[in-house]
Amino acid sequence: MNQAHFDTPDPQVLGEIKNTVGLSGWKVASEAPQYFEDPRGRFRGLGCLIVLPDTTQQVAEIVRLCNDARIGIVPYSGGTGVVAGQLSDENPNVVILSLERMNTIRDMQIDEGVMVVEAGCILENVHDAAAQHDMAFPLSMASKGSCCIGGNLATNAGGIQVLRYGNARDLCLGIEAVLPDGTVLQELAPLRKNNTGYDLRHLLIGSEGTLGIITAAALRLVPQDPETGTAFLAIRAPSDGLSVYRTLKTYLGDSISGLELMSGMGIALVTEKFPDLRNPFDQLPPWALLLEATGAMGLSARIEEALQACFEAGLIVDAVIAQSAAQRKSLWDLRENTPEANRMAGAFCNSDTSVPLGKMDAFIADTVAKITGINPGLRINSYGHIGDGNIHHNVFPPDGVSKETFIADNPAIIDQVRTAVNDVTHAHGGSISAEHGVGRLKTADLENYATAARLGVLKQIKAALDPNNIMNPGALIR
Ligand code: LAC
Ligand code: ZN
Repeated sequence: MNQAHFDTPDPQVLGEIKNTVGLSGWKVASEAPQYFEDPRGRFRGLGCLIVLPDTTQQVAEIVRLCNDARIGIVPYSGGTGVVAGQLSDENPNVVILSLERMNTIRDMQIDEGVMVVEAGCILENVHDAAAQHDMAFPLSMASKGSCCIGGNLATNAGGIQVLRYGNARDLCLGIEAVLPDGTVLQELAPLRKNNTGYDLRHLLIGSEGTLGIITAAALRLVPQDPETGTAFLAIRAPSDGLSVYRTLKTYLGDSISGLELMSGMGIALVTEKFPDLRNPFDQLPPWALLLEATGAMGLSARIEEALQACFEAGLIVDAVIAQSAAQRKSLWDLRENTPEANRMAGAFCNSDTSVPLGKMDAFIADTVAKITGINPGLRINSYGHIGDGNIHHNVFPPDGVSKETFIADNPAIIDQVRTAVNDVTHAHGGSISAEHGVGRLKTADLENYATAARLGVLKQIKAALDPNNIMNPGALIR
């Protein structure tokens, strides 16, 4: 972790910031602990004031005041990020700028397939608003009930439908953002083509609030498909998972929207921690795949054909096809409650790296070997987005040992495991951050593993756009 230094802000400037938003637009830090909590309980944030602007003009004015007075700003979205991008862990003199009051759907252009939303719109509300017009906004993840579009874009979030629709970046046609000097960048026009130089939208997306604050976005909607099929498939090994994917594609093509890997250990864990959930197979499988496909009429029959082909090829050993919306939900609940089950069970490491698809088997085998090489008692729940080469390893202390005791007895363990996963990822040509971002957790990792060319350009861009280093200081790059 690292941090730029900021002095105690001038009370007069803080007063001007408060005046900008009015009485209902700010909170005293000591009375709003929720802005300083980490969903996984590993970090605590700091800050001297929380501001909650409700217009882009207010955001711009606050940023201008902060830039002039050299006050650091931490943009705050849904607070669900897991790499401390929203938590300034060492600097108490920063202002937390929450977009939560900017939650208006500004425009809905069904014929264009576009919805223009403010950054503080909760992802699930965007889903619901699209569904009212028989459309879908296909970015989705377990935190959809609390994460917001601004954070989704700032981190270029991935999730469970990347296979078909891409990451947040691929679902955004335009943005409005406030740059570090307070200038408003208006690029909300939902253009499918625009070759007028550097793509500033894509520069801001994934910049984790270090180059500006995204205040609104033009999102790409897709028509809702008439049929959805969800199936849970028992497999022997992750390598069979990729063969299943290849076979399914020959039958279902781009209809496959999600293919998630779960381990038998993970299924046991989530059903233990969430007693309403159950393993749908007769036995606990070594591994399983959760498949979701959506498409034109006749899709369900094609899914059955595809699964039959997988059976005949010996790739799957059992399959359960959801017969109702309730069954579909209960299968997805197994997957979506997995991160919380991991947390409840004492996971002390939650990796997020990606490798090329062809390297995934070796990646899983090599990381597991390297982690158990550190301590043979460590237990690992590997799961995630197999079709994206993005497997999360969650690592637990040996059976019967609490997380607290284990970490107290092995103070270097978190770093050792993280380094082990990063080293194997890097050796297989992968990325040390697949879909969660760099935040403050991985700045040193980025320095270690990025090429000098990449790191140099990142730093030059940051220095050019934010010469006073006020935008999310300490996140992404030092
Ligand atoms: C998931 C989050 C942790 O896939 O990325 O569950
Ligand atoms: Zn994930």
